[in-house]
Amino acid sequence: MEDTQSIRAQINYETTRKGPPEGFPQFPDLPGKRYTDQRFYDLEKQQLWRKSWLFAGHMDEIPEPGCFKLWETAGQPVILLHTRTGGVRAYYNTCRHRGAPLVREATGKADRLTCGYHGWTYNHDGELINLRDKRDFVDLDFSCRSLYPVRLERLGKFLFANFDPDARPLTQEFAPLLPQWEQFQFERLRFVHKDSFSLKCNWKIAMESNMEVYHVRSIHPQTVSPMLDHRGNVNTLYPGGHGRMIAPLKVQNHTETAAIVDDRPDIETVGEIPRTCILSFNIMPNLVSPMNEKGLPIFAFWPTSINTTTLELWWFGEDWGDAPKPRSWDTYIDYFNMIVAEDTQFGDGIQQGVESYAFGGVPLNYQEARLYHWHQAVDEIIGIGNIPPELRAAPVIEPHWISQT
Ligand code: FES
Ligand SMILES: [Fe+2]
Repeated sequence: MEDTQSIRAQINYETTRKGPPEGFPQFPDLPGKRYTDQRFYDLEKQQLWRKSWLFAGHMDEIPEPGCFKLWETAGQPVILLHTRTGGVRAYYNTCRHRGAPLVREATGKADRLTCGYHGWTYNHDGELINLRDKRDFVDLDFSCRSLYPVRLERLGKFLFANFDPDARPLTQEFAPLLPQWEQFQFERLRFVHKDSFSLKCNWKIAMESNMEVYHVRSIHPQTVSPMLDHRGNVNTLYPGGHGRMIAPLKVQNHTETAAIVDDRPDIETVGEIPRTCILSFNIMPNLVSPMNEKGLPIFAFWPTSINTTTLELWWFGEDWGDAPKPRSWDTYIDYFNMIVAEDTQFGDGIQQGVESYAFGGVPLNYQEARLYHWHQAVDEIIGIGNIPPELRAAPVIEPHWISQT
């Protein structure tokens, strides 16, 4: 992360500016059909969801060798497995015989994976090691019948999967973000809690309310607005569509307006900016994560159809060891869910709006730049030539507005 002084100078610039910076592009209207057109939804499925690193879970969910969990939120049947040798692997939950699922429980523990249909058995490396009535197969080559693998990489204890065997490594994808994330010690953070919400809107509509602070005064008058100075917000755009906001706090700490006594332990290595500002990342394709010294939630937005979404809200925090769970975790999560309800309240109404006969395009402003940048990057990933012209986000953000560090 840049040094504190330079971030303070940027905040100061944003607070006092009279307009967007000199030369900053005016965004063409974002086509409303990006939220409603089946062709765009199909392109997202085929390209974006199939090629991106997706947040799949956390090591605390599969803490010991042999532990597995089913991961299906990305629309594919996947097993995440903590292997006997201490690694972690992902496989399609699909038997190589006739495709039956190997695992039907949400979580469990197993020395080997045995298909319930005819009993084919696989080891933790995904190799077929046994099957019933071998005599009935002629020359079956076991070595060609291993489970189909899914790419899986770890960022500390956080697990990311990719359905593209040729995807670039996770560390390369997140290169500009990794140095700033070091202070949060992803290898130590503990899984605290997870909620799921069903929303009646396109997944992008749901996610976008967490990618700008333009809405704060209107929909969070009692909660976020008293704590955050939206005028000082600094947006930073990164290659690949990732983005960051840093908005100064108007209060002493992150929980002052929640009026709770915060007994959650600190992540001691966290520096001054995350302690005195709202620091939030949007991470391609579908994550938003505001991070501070107490830990972080991950918002993950998963399409369940073109106009419905599951929002998973995961919480991670500094490990409290063997002591009882700090009481303010539950209090704070309840409070935070109130803010989430504020943020999601317009989802179904917006969906109806963008589906209406009249709706055209979305005029985004400078404060909403992370949204436009995100859409522009999505088109790059899909391949702009693959997108019908009337659905494209014209690439108007030139490279010099994108931060490389
Ligand atoms: S489908 Fe799995 S053993 Fe037949
Ligand atoms: Fe909000």
